[in-house]
Parts: sequence; C-alpha cells; structure tokens
Amino acid sequence: MVSAKKPTDLLKEDHQNVLKKLDSLDEMIGNLDQKDKVAAPLKEVSSFFQTDFWVHFDKEEQALFPELEKFIPRESGPLGVMLAEHEDLRKTNADFQRTVSEYLGGADNPETMGEIQQQGSHFITVLRDHIFKEDNILFSMADAHLDQHQMDKVAELFLKIDGGHVLEGKQERGVIEMLRGRRSCKDFLDTPVSPEILSELVDIARYSPSGANKNTWRFIIITERQTLDRLSETARTCSWLNSAQAAIAVVIDPLSTRYWLEDCSVAAYSIWLAAEARGLGAAWAAMHQGDKPEESVRRQKHVREILSIPDELAVPMVIGLGYRKSPPAERERPALEEIINWESYPIL
Ligand SMILES: Cc1cc2nc3c(=O)[nH]c(=O)nc-3n(C[C@H](O)[C@H](O)[C@H](O)COP(=O)(O)O)c2cc1C
Repeated sequence: MVSAKKPTDLLKEDHQNVLKKLDSLDEMIGNLDQKDKVAAPLKEVSSFFQTDFWVHFDKEEQALFPELEKFIPRESGPLGVMLAEHEDLRKTNADFQRTVSEYLGGADNPETMGEIQQQGSHFITVLRDHIFKEDNILFSMADAHLDQHQMDKVAELFLKIDGGHVLEGKQERGVIEMLRGRRSCKDFLDTPVSPEILSELVDIARYSPSGANKNTWRFIIITERQTLDRLSETARTCSWLNSAQAAIAVVIDPLSTRYWLEDCSVAAYSIWLAAEARGLGAAWAAMHQGDKPEESVRRQKHVREILSIPDELAVPMVIGLGYRKSPPAERERPALEEIINWESYPIL
C-alpha cells in the first residue's frame, strides 16, 4: 500500500485546508477598504490559489477521475459536473486574481474593490459547494467502487504529481525566493516520501562545500515508522519527528576534519533546501548542543543506539522530512538595518 490513507481522504484533507482559506478570503474581501491590514494576507491567500491549489485539481483530473471513469461516464453524471465546475473555477479564479493584483498594485479604488467582492464571492460560493459535492457524493462513490489496486495506483500518481509540480515550482520559484520562503515544518501529512526523492536529497548533499573538500560526512535515510518514533523520543525539541515521514541523519567522524560541525551543518542545510525544492517540508533536530556537552552525549548516544552508529562517530543533527500539512505562516525576521554593517562593526 502506497499510503496509510485513502486518496479520497488525502483529497478531503486538502479540502479542509481550502475551506479555511476560503473563510479567511471571505473575511478579507469584506474589509478591502483597510488595505494596510488586508494586503499581506490577501497576497498570501491569492498566491495559494494561483499555485498550490491547482495541484489538487491535477490530482483529481489526472489520477482519481480516470479511475472513476471506468464506471462513471465522463460526459454525464457527477464526474461531468465536477469537471465543468473545475473549468468554471479556473476561469473565475483567473479573473479574480487579475483584479486582486490590480488592487495590490495600487488600484485600491471602489470600482476594483467592488469587482473583487463580486468575483471573490462567486469563486468562494462555487468552490464551497463543489467541495461539498465531492466530499459527499463523488468520493463516496470512489470509496465504494475502487479496489485496493486502483487506490494504490491513484496514491502513487498523487506522489508523482506532487513531485512534478515541485519541479515546475522550482523553475518558477528560483533560489532566492526559496531562501526567503523556507520555514521549518513540524507537522506532516501521512503521505510517504518516495525513495527516489530521499536518495536524491543525499545525492544533492554530496555537492555541499566542505573544509578542504574532505567530504567525510555520511548520511542515513530513515523511513520506518517505529524508528522515526524512537528518534522523536531523543529530546522534547524533536518530538515532532513522530509525524515526519522520513528523516536523514548526518553522521561524521569528528577526527576526520577540524570542520566536522560546519561541514555537517552545510550539508544538512543543502538537504533542507533540496527538500523544499521538491515540495517537502523539513526541520532540524539538533543532536549537538554547543553549551551542554553532556546533553550532546546523551542525545547522540540515543540516536547511535537506534541507528547502530559506531561510538566514535558524531551525529550532530537529524533532518525530519515529509509533505506539509499546511502552508507555513510568515515569520518575523530582523530588519536589514539591524544586522547589516559596512566596512566595520558599528561604534556603539
Ligand atoms: C543549528 C540549528 C538547530 C536547530 N535545532 C532544532 C531542534 O532541535 N528542534 C527544532 O524543532 N527546531 C530546531 N531548529 C529550527 C529552528 O528553531 C528554526 O529554524 C528557527 O526557529 C527559525 O524558524 P524557521 O526554520 O521556520 O524559519 C534548529 C535550527 C538550527 C539552524
């Protein structure tokens, strides 16, 4: 079985997330006159409806619907209705996004705001109704008719579609945007991460810079639930590993290079960024505690035991991985003026 959850359950989870976005969008379009408050969240929600949201439609249209078509004709009945609604939503959303970007770009006049309200309300109403029909009619039919083999086939295609979109996203998003948008993820979907993606992450880590190009780090990929759960017990700060679908432990002989900690940290960050580029969420579980050597020893002893790592090797961090349950919120960062200095440290 590809996933512990049925594909229809995964789609229903997406729906719950979308319904929350629609609720907040509904509130925003009622407060367009308060642009200073509305602009940032509206930008975020509108970006979701321009990008990630459509992955869900692709999963339905490219993976679930073709299986359903084997017993429901596409032209008529619920499948035909859902597809027609997808088209309507695509068109409505395109118009809506155009108007939102005019508003965000400076056209915050009554006319544009009226248009956003009209297009937004239509989009919200049609999509809520569409989700209700899929959850209560179409997915029930899928659950009743698809056998395990078909469910597995659909789930496998979901993983491919996730991967493909990430590839596209990577080209659209660019490194700079990814660096700015990266956030820790500590709450993951049940969807497993494919072995191809996991081994690709380690392959990418090979290209990390290391002091004197020693490249002495080694990596352990962990996907077994029981092992991940045991790792989550290492410390309170990594308890979230119990929802991760995979993890990569970074291992090194600290006598192999004077830069062992730096080399591992850089490689761990490469893995983290590569995971982001592949549409995964990731987070860092620290096993090295610079100010508490005894805690480092305790944590790493625990991890070494679980992963059968020889005593002489260090395991300074484990990167937890999986597909995000929900998009990350923006996080406050120091202002550039606070951290930037030119030519010398400022005289206080
Ligand atoms: C060296 C290092 C150690 C970290 N250790 C942990 C950890 O043990 N557990 C954890 O949940 N997050 C850990 N993090 C993640 C940070 O808390 C997180 O990156 C920071 O709060 C900024 O949030 P963001 O990643 O969402 O931008 C660590 C990050 C770094 C760079």
